[in-house]
Amino acid sequence: MQDRRKFMATSAAAIGLFGAGLPRAARANIPFESLEAMPASVQLAPDGYPLTDIWGYGGTAPGPVLRLAQGARLQRQFVNSLPQASAVHWHGIRIDNAMDGVPGLTQDVVMPGDSFDYDFEVPDAGTYWYHSHNQSTEQVARGLHGALIVDEPDAIDVDRDEVMVLDDWLIDPETAQIFPEFENSHERSHGGRNGNLTTTNGTYDRMMTVQRHERLRLRLINAANARIFGLGLEGFEGWIVALDGMPLPTPEPFTNTLVLGPGQRADLFVDVVAEDGTSAYLVRAEDGRGTPQVTFQVRGQASLARRPAPQALPPNPGHMIELSGDVARVALEMSGGAMGGMRQATYNGEIMSFRELARANQFWAFNGTVGMTEEPLAAFDRGQTVRLGISNDTSFPHAMHLHGMHFREVLADETLGPMRDTLLVGSDQQREIAFVANNPGDWLFHCHMLSHAASGMMTWVRVA
Ligand code: C2O
Ligand code: CU
Repeated sequence: MQDRRKFMATSAAAIGLFGAGLPRAARANIPFESLEAMPASVQLAPDGYPLTDIWGYGGTAPGPVLRLAQGARLQRQFVNSLPQASAVHWHGIRIDNAMDGVPGLTQDVVMPGDSFDYDFEVPDAGTYWYHSHNQSTEQVARGLHGALIVDEPDAIDVDRDEVMVLDDWLIDPETAQIFPEFENSHERSHGGRNGNLTTTNGTYDRMMTVQRHERLRLRLINAANARIFGLGLEGFEGWIVALDGMPLPTPEPFTNTLVLGPGQRADLFVDVVAEDGTSAYLVRAEDGRGTPQVTFQVRGQASLARRPAPQALPPNPGHMIELSGDVARVALEMSGGAMGGMRQATYNGEIMSFRELARANQFWAFNGTVGMTEEPLAAFDRGQTVRLGISNDTSFPHAMHLHGMHFREVLADETLGPMRDTLLVGSDQQREIAFVANNPGDWLFHCHMLSHAASGMMTWVRVA
């Protein structure tokens, strides 16, 4: 790999010299910029605590913000400098299937010391993210994730655009080291791996200075393994303008609490209404105490005028879903977990009792089957409209994520909810999603509580 990097450096320098006039064929040989996953040590815990050993893209957690224009190509050479095999998934992108980053389904795993060239177009503007999709309970928990931002063609009317990757870490309170027990059966069978240190962009007490009446676009990304964030605003007037990257048709006034399951994102426009010399906050409301997640100190110099209420973001192209007409129906029944009453399920082709499954550290089933199967959950012709019913017969919420295509929830009155790629399904809930199977390939459908995905909650669909 050393050699390859040296080679890349030399050829990049050569291109720097002669790049301007290169013919097209030669341009194709320009090496991609690298995205290297590597071990690093960072100050994660409060000052005075030791550094924490992490795995990060570019040696930071979150990794670098990858930002490009709508319709552009993302081209990165993923370099694996970890002691474990890995791969990168680009969560929420309507991606070319071969670039989806799922070892065993869409590509081979990238061994330590190897690399893989990711090269794909980003058709939709919005807030997305990338993360490891191999041994992800461990690799995402160690820090292998980052934001992927796709900019709208025209500038959006805000004063600042802030990416906020929300995460929680399970660390030893003495040594600040990450608890290395990633396959803990209690976590797997209950709510997943929840941390004891919550961070924003890798810092537990993120602070920034704002001006009264400034309008900020906050791009919130829940990168935690299992934590469901319940977020509130103080000292702001806010609107939700996009969910999971996709613009809402009209900005929705932010009222109480925004619930973000693992994998989900929300774009907010927030106007600072707190007085000069005070602070505004993004708070975590899920603990009932309103703990500050991000503190915004209001330091007004000149006084800005309040802006009028925001306009919707421009819609992304080609996301129509029509429920009338020929619709394929699929049912997914979730069972298992602690206090779930699952008696048995099929695992690796064998019917096993819950007790036997627990011994194999497996706890969850979709339609009576634990984990990935040879055959897809369902296969669709390209362009087919699908209604997929989800019934959660477990005692835990699950954040169901579909790769490759966004869906809408089918609401009780048969109207369609917002476009999303991850749906939080509460315990005992029956929900339904609809999507157009218009992206060919094999696509995972799994719970984004990563301990659950690793212990049974993972299936896939095929679009021919
Ligand atoms: Cu964000 Cu299959 O993952
Ligand atoms: Cu789950």
